[in-house]
Amino acid sequence: MKKIVVLTGAGISAESGLKTFRDSDGLWEGFNIEDVATPEAWRRNPELVQNFYNERRKSVLEAQPNAAHIALAKLEEKYEVTVITQNIDDLHERGGSTNVVHLHGIITRSQSSKNPSLTYPIDGWEIKMGEKCELGSQLRAHVVWFGEAVPMIGKAARICTGADIFILVGSSLAVYPAAGLVDYVPRDTPKYIVDPKIPYMNRDSSYIKIEEKASIGVVTLVTRLLNEE
Ligand code: APR
Repeated sequence: MKKIVVLTGAGISAESGLKTFRDSDGLWEGFNIEDVATPEAWRRNPELVQNFYNERRKSVLEAQPNAAHIALAKLEEKYEVTVITQNIDDLHERGGSTNVVHLHGIITRSQSSKNPSLTYPIDGWEIKMGEKCELGSQLRAHVVWFGEAVPMIGKAARICTGADIFILVGSSLAVYPAAGLVDYVPRDTPKYIVDPKIPYMNRDSSYIKIEEKASIGVVTLVTRLLNEE
């Protein structure tokens, strides 16, 4: 089976009602990133950070996968598909994808604030202050904050080196190390990009561009790939 690697960003979840990052003048739901998504923010005001992610989690749980998530899952009928996502929502999984690598973690799980490899399911939508991990430290959202390590990046890079087809959906490629993954895709691998505003591709312009929103562009591309010989 041919291997398809899909790298997704916030844009694929935009039509599910979840905000992207750089479309909203640098604020995330009205907050500065450094006030809610850094280890310093957590040290300074853990309640603010905890509540911020509780609100994000509520939105994620209320959101539904859109046609793009569902179409990517359909690709598994004919291809060996790995979705590498920068998103912390679980819409790829709920859309039916069975092989998802979350570079920046997933908001539906909690993690120990002492040992990031200790993660737990969350019952409902919130993590309360006072809820502790097995080491006795406060539980926090299982997401990668700015300035923290991205443990899955090595695995994701290796996956990209083996892509027979590469698809980029809904990412401005503004944040490293995720953005650097495209450089691991072999030069002769066909590369597609789906985005209504194709970001400046400071890489080879060999991308086949589909300037559409994901619910249209990904569905069109998947149909083409499923009908290919
Ligand atoms: N369909 C497809 N793409 C879309 C849609 C849509 N309906 N709407 C917007 N986009 C595109 C935008 O044009 C943009 O190129 O999605 C991209 C979103 O870019 P960002 O907001 O920068 O999101 P992302 O690339 O995922 O950010 C990467 O930055 O803030 C950190 O950790 C955070 O994972 C995030 C990372």
